[in-house]
Amino acid sequence: MKGLILSGGAGTRLRPITHTSAKQLVPVANKPILFYGIDDMAEAGITEIGIITGETGDEVREAVGDGSRFGVNVTYIPQDKPLGLAHCVRIAKDFLGDDDFVMYLGDNMLQQGLVEFIGRFEADRAAAKQPTLHEHVDPPAAQILLCPVPDPQRFGVAEVDDDGHVVRLVEKPVDPPSNLALVGVYLFTPLIHEAVAAIEPSPRGELEITDAIQWLISHGHRVRHDVLEGWWLDTGKKDPLLESNRRVLEELETRIDGDVDDASDIDGRVVVEAGATIVRSHIRGPVVIGAGSTVTDSYIGPYSAIADDCAIVDSEIENSVILERARITNVPRLVDSLIGRDTEVHRSGRRPRATRLMIGDHCTIDLD
Ligand code: G1P
Repeated sequence: MKGLILSGGAGTRLRPITHTSAKQLVPVANKPILFYGIDDMAEAGITEIGIITGETGDEVREAVGDGSRFGVNVTYIPQDKPLGLAHCVRIAKDFLGDDDFVMYLGDNMLQQGLVEFIGRFEADRAAAKQPTLHEHVDPPAAQILLCPVPDPQRFGVAEVDDDGHVVRLVEKPVDPPSNLALVGVYLFTPLIHEAVAAIEPSPRGELEITDAIQWLISHGHRVRHDVLEGWWLDTGKKDPLLESNRRVLEELETRIDGDVDDASDIDGRVVVEAGATIVRSHIRGPVVIGAGSTVTDSYIGPYSAIADDCAIVDSEIENSVILERARITNVPRLVDSLIGRDTEVHRSGRRPRATRLMIGDHCTIDLD
């Protein structure tokens, strides 16, 4: 079993953060989203992983390296243009060879790991190889993961019949046949290569993996489905990203490796990385504070992740993700925020009192 992680795409819904960096490298609880998928694959025993990269390929390569620190070998497969998920499978054909593979969308985050997902596929295949006298069942050609959602129009959608068979798949249907969305984790046998070679681009101009799986069904192959356990988020926008951050921080275990002075209070589950310094501040977990960051005369409230080398002074922060080297000074209440790398937010006290901004393209500012 190999792994294929898709880490291209433009990340338009997370601008401006993604003007300068890959959406899959935005951190959740101080760990890039992409790393969660790699860790899940490693845990499931997958050691050969292909990563499809786009414009932000250099940055992805720099962050992931050869994969050795995850215990895997990584092969990079550049995609010139974002031509769709099935196009990614086409260009990964040589890397994938005749192996089965798990395909994982690099901006999806799942609570469940891959061990059971793969295990159920293998069990189904083993059972199909031992037909009973009355029944012959073909081994599955693919396995998809489904989750009921309130807004199926935004996803690939599956129709499952009363016997539990996947009978139809449609990408972003105006009139969805069910509320079962396709989660961005798939398991394919080499039959998928025939499917991705046969399909045509969709109305949005992309080769859709949903259409390739539909092709398998239309050509008499069996597609198995699994129903998601636990939470799943497509992190490509600010609010789901903050929600993923909350979900992961929920499971945090306290670890204080940095310096906390006697005038500071730490409540609840908090990680203070080595080299971080907390001075006269109150930290109420779950919170993670990255290496080299300093928090002075401040309050950091639940569900905040402060990345490495940040400086927080005289400020109060809650339910926010703060990226590397941000400086936040004298800001009484910063909530529900995503703050990019090397940014500065401060209250200078200059007269006349005013809001003075220098903000990039595609930013959102919500003033009190
Ligand atoms: C893609 C797939 C869609 C799937 C979704 C999961 O959508 O095309 O079928 O439900 O990922 O995140 P996209 O992110 O390209 O809009």
